[in-house]
Amino acid sequence: MNAAIRAVVRQADALGHEAWGIRRGYQGLLDGDLAPLSSRAVANILQRGGTMLQTARCLDFHKPETRIRAAGILQEAGIEALVVIGGDGSFRGAETLMREHGVACAGIPGTIDNDLPGTERTLGFDTALNTAVEAIDRIRDTASSHGRVFLVEVMGRSSGMLAVHTALACGAEAVLYPESHEDGYNTLVARLKAHWEAGKRSSIVVVAEGDMVGRAMAVGEQLKRDHGLDLRVVVLGHVQRGGSPTALDRIWGSRWGAEAVRRLDRGERGFYMAEVAGALVAQPLSKVLDPQPVPPGDLGALVSILSR
Ligand code: F6P
Repeated sequence: MNAAIRAVVRQADALGHEAWGIRRGYQGLLDGDLAPLSSRAVANILQRGGTMLQTARCLDFHKPETRIRAAGILQEAGIEALVVIGGDGSFRGAETLMREHGVACAGIPGTIDNDLPGTERTLGFDTALNTAVEAIDRIRDTASSHGRVFLVEVMGRSSGMLAVHTALACGAEAVLYPESHEDGYNTLVARLKAHWEAGKRSSIVVVAEGDMVGRAMAVGEQLKRDHGLDLRVVVLGHVQRGGSPTALDRIWGSRWGAEAVRRLDRGERGFYMAEVAGALVAQPLSKVLDPQPVPPGDLGALVSILSR
């Protein structure tokens, strides 16, 4: 996200606009927590995790009267366009602000879940994925030395995107995720049994936190109860949401930030930046109003084929 902020500020500067930073998202806007951001003010942030502008959940933004207040604050500050970095909730807020009050809005996808429609990438996903894979590579050493099963829970409240990509990249034996059509628990037991019979003495099971079977702790308890397995549960949690961003996240944050400003400068409104088949494109903000689930494709099935 810092790469995107830096790019927005510096591209705006290059086009002769003044950029302002709003701290803590919509909540900060309502609190009037905004100030000009110079090109110098965004120095040395490209390699940092999190966001220099900080963030907050703002449930109040669902109320029409709150949005009237927000539009008034923007107008009073002379702000002509808003670049929103976030996930579907933030984008829905931007879309409504634009539709109701004519605020020119642009979105930059930022969520480790990679679950926005119309884009194959969101900022943070690649970093979170690499962090999870590195952690599981380390866990694998204990799993194989001790001949144990590990359940590793990764984030993804309602999406298995991070889980299936992590599972594929670390050669997991199985993956449980919300969009799977399999009967999670029973399929998992059958798979672990088949692996044991085929001579595998250790397994890594990646569990998406949003999986319907339950979080990794619950699945682990059930496996211990039903089968007496010597297993361990690791919840990676917020470790995945921090740390220095990968080169890919920095590059896409920079490209999207700059392109969003160029488009706003040309008079375009109501779009969000996206990646489709490797190309940088823009999608209409209204696309987030009718979200199609972003399925992780057949990657879950590939995890089982490759773990035999
Ligand atoms: O929506 C993004 C996400 O990373 C989810 O995967 C996760 O459940 C959630 O945020 C965690 O949010 P919080 O930091 O508020 O607990």
